[in-house]
Order: sequence, then structure tokens, then C-alpha cells
Amino acid sequence: MTITNDTSAEMRSNLEIVGREDLADLEAVFNVLGVEEENGIHTVENNCDAEFTWNYDKGERAGLDKLYEKSKKAQWNATTDLPWHLEVDQEKLAWENFTEDQAGFFSADLSGTVCEKWGPKEWVEMNIESQNWSLSQFMHGEQGALICTAKIVETVPWIDAKYYAAQQVADEARHVEVFSRYLDTKLSGHYPINAHLSMLLDDIIKDSEWDMTYLGMQIMVEGLALAAFGFTHQQTKEPLLKQLLRYVMADEARHVAFGVLSLQEYYQGLTTAELRYRQEFAFEAAVRMTDRLQQQEVWSRMGVPAKDAIHLLNQVPERKDFQVLLFSKIVPNCKKLGLLDAADGWLRTKFTEIGAIQFEHWEDTTMDADALAESSPVDRQLV
Ligand SMILES: [Fe+2]
Ligand SMILES: [Fe+2]
Repeated sequence: MTITNDTSAEMRSNLEIVGREDLADLEAVFNVLGVEEENGIHTVENNCDAEFTWNYDKGERAGLDKLYEKSKKAQWNATTDLPWHLEVDQEKLAWENFTEDQAGFFSADLSGTVCEKWGPKEWVEMNIESQNWSLSQFMHGEQGALICTAKIVETVPWIDAKYYAAQQVADEARHVEVFSRYLDTKLSGHYPINAHLSMLLDDIIKDSEWDMTYLGMQIMVEGLALAAFGFTHQQTKEPLLKQLLRYVMADEARHVAFGVLSLQEYYQGLTTAELRYRQEFAFEAAVRMTDRLQQQEVWSRMGVPAKDAIHLLNQVPERKDFQVLLFSKIVPNCKKLGLLDAADGWLRTKFTEIGAIQFEHWEDTTMDADALAESSPVDRQLV
């Protein structure tokens, strides 16, 4: 395969080493562990040039201009626009989940595993840890978005995209802020970043091509995040979290639309080999995102060995359905970018193999942005 440059070739070989194409191979997922870092700082090499442009003309990209205007109107204040005064009883909510949801692991064969001896107390504790973990990963992912979008401001050669990306930087700072505050004041503990999510963010940031930041972050990470936020928003009965997620989702829909609008134009000028490289990157990113959903750090904190956790996870079909559902945003967006069928349909074949191609006709996220914006905090205040 022809690669666009040396750094990309090096990156691809890294992906082959750590990547995985078989979604059912959970042992490979659990074998990847996070690394403790000194001083809480994680450094990633940035191989992309910063680009000035002396062409300040607006109006060349009407879609981006429209999104930029929408974004300026839809800013909200994380401190004053959310009901932070509401008390959250995490344990009570976890007990309610436990009594209402007897499906999931209860239908699994627990014999021979550590969980065989678990009673309601342990399952409720697992539920609490799982929520702490999920919100922690949302927060870390948001910081990834903050850094990636700041990088796009530097590296994208179009002035209208720099303007929009700058708006998104402010959005992402707000998102990190709200998840961090929710974890600190309403939940009961933090988790470090999941190893698979961390590797994915590193790969996105290391790439030397400016459009790869968009593909990795705006299309893949934010596409999956939008589906995950939507799922959590639907499931939770906690009013503060529900409102917080609604606000964040209204912003995220614009972010994915930003990726689609920008890449649609750029990909029209790429060669088949260059598009194939991007297809492979998109697929590897999708696999990493599903790997992170196994919550390996929660099992470990609950004292469940990896082999027991894998035994349970393999028995619960709902978890696999949830993974596939996460593709509901990225498959239509990849299609709109022309990535599904470019290079002899390599990505279509891959999505078909993992059972996600069924989502290709779902609405793409440029339409979501309009629908979600109608209920954005600012619009709501004006009504
Ligand atoms: Fe975000
Ligand atoms: Fe975002």
C-alpha cells in the first residue's frame, strides 16, 4: 500500500502492532494496560506544521460560515446555566437500577467466577464504579477534543475552519469543566484514562496530516461520543446529568458536522491510496473505541480477574448490541465522506464484517446539528 509520507507509514505500523480487527477477542483487549505517569502529565509528539493563511476571505465555504454563526449564538455558561444546586444520591440511583434491571449479568452463568458469591451490595457497588468510570472517560475524551481542536486551529489551512475550530475550543473547555465538576461534586471517585482511549488520542495527535485530526476526533471519537451521550441521556433519571448531557450533545452535533463539512471537500482531491490509509485509520479507531467499552479498569477495581470478566462479557448479548449501536453515528458520516466505497469498498467490507453496515442509511450528523440546536440552552432561554 502506498502511504502519503514517512510519518504516516510509521504510524500505520504502530496501529498494526496494537490494533485489533476481531471485536470478539476480549483477551487482547484486557491485555492492554494503562501506564502510570509521573506528575500527572502525558506528553505526545506533535508532527504537524502550524499553517498561517493570508487569505482572509469568508464566504468560500457557506456551510462552515453557517456553523460558525450558529456556534456563536449557542454558547452557554457551565457555571450558571446548569442546576448545580441539585443533590445527587448516587447510591440510591444505583439501587434503583439494580432493582429495575434484572437483565444483563444476572442471566449469565456466574459459576466458577468471583462474581458467583456476589450479592446485591456488590452489584450496586459495581454500578457505582461503572458510572464513575464512564464519566471519567467522558472527561478525558473531552480533554482530547480540547487538544485536538486547538491543533486544528493551528494546522488547517482555511481561515473559515480556523474560526469555527476556535469556537469549538471554547466548547470543549466547557465540556471538560462540566464533567470534572460533576465527578468532583456529585459522584464518588475518578478513574485514569482507559488505555485504549489513550492510545487512540495519541495516534490522532501524532499524525502529520492536518485532516487526520478531524477524522480521528470529529468523525470517530465525537461521533461515538454523541451516540454514548445520547444513550446515557436516555437511561439516566438524574435531572442534572440529563440536562448537562443535553447541552453537551447540542455542541457535539455541531462538532461532528464541522468534521463532515471540512473533510467532504478535502477528500475530493485525495488519491485512492490516500483514501485507503484514511479508511484503515477510521476502522482502527472504531475498534479502539469499542475496546474501551469493556471497562477493564472497573473489573480490576472490583477484584474480578480478567478471565472472569471476559467469561461474563461473552455471555451478555446486550453489551455487543450497545457496541454496535455506537457505530450508528460514524457509519453514515463515513459514507457521506465517501470513505465507505472508496478504494474498492475496503471500509464497507470491514463494517459489514462487524455487523455495523446496517447504519449506513441512518441520518448523518449534519442533520442532527440542526435538530439539536433547536433545543440548545440559548434557544431555550429565548423561548
Ligand atoms: Fe466535547
Ligand atoms: Fe466536541
